[in-house]
Amino acid sequence: MMKAHILCYLVNIFILTSGVTNHNYYWRDYWGRITPDAISFDGIYIAQAPEHGLLPGSLDTERNEITTEVFGRKIILRRGIKVLCDQNIESFHWDKISTNQLVKEYLEDAVVGGIESDSLLYIGRIFHEGVFKIGKVFPPSSPFSGFRGWYNFNDTQYKTDDFEILKYKSLPSPSKCQ
Ligand SMILES: *[C@@H]1O[C@H](CO)[C@@H](O)[C@H](O)[C@H]1NC(C)=O
Repeated sequence: MMKAHILCYLVNIFILTSGVTNHNYYWRDYWGRITPDAISFDGIYIAQAPEHGLLPGSLDTERNEITTEVFGRKIILRRGIKVLCDQNIESFHWDKISTNQLVKEYLEDAVVGGIESDSLLYIGRIFHEGVFKIGKVFPPSSPFSGFRGWYNFNDTQYKTDDFEILKYKSLPSPSKCQ
């Protein structure tokens, strides 16, 4: 009994002091079927696919493809798609933010969606051309800082410094020791 008590406290101290952002989310291979654990907001899923690194983007579940941006152009990806999944959608929320607010501490609990040009990519969302688009967010340390999306109208890059970023509610709450 005493042992369990001490162990419980030790575990809680570890949770409170480790400072690591524990997360349980995972990226599931997409084979044309959405599983119940896929994270979606307003019917929009969050996906990634390998191209010049690994790029997050908007998943089209009818066409089984991702739309995102690379080298200043809109791009469609169909191979190696993965979808963001978790047992608990309440762990996620969108935060309205500007590029200059993306300090290191703030980004610690932002969901990493990929990598490009030696930079981690976070997951951004904008309402643009009448739809929600999921796109890449470069941190300020990158020469390409901010949200990088695309125009459906002419397939060129759409860049903005005001967007929403996907955050993950970080640490598990300590359990009650009795
Ligand atoms: C693409 O379309 C947008 C919206 O009309 C416009 O602002 C942008 O300048 C266009 N880009 C090019 C390269 O034509």
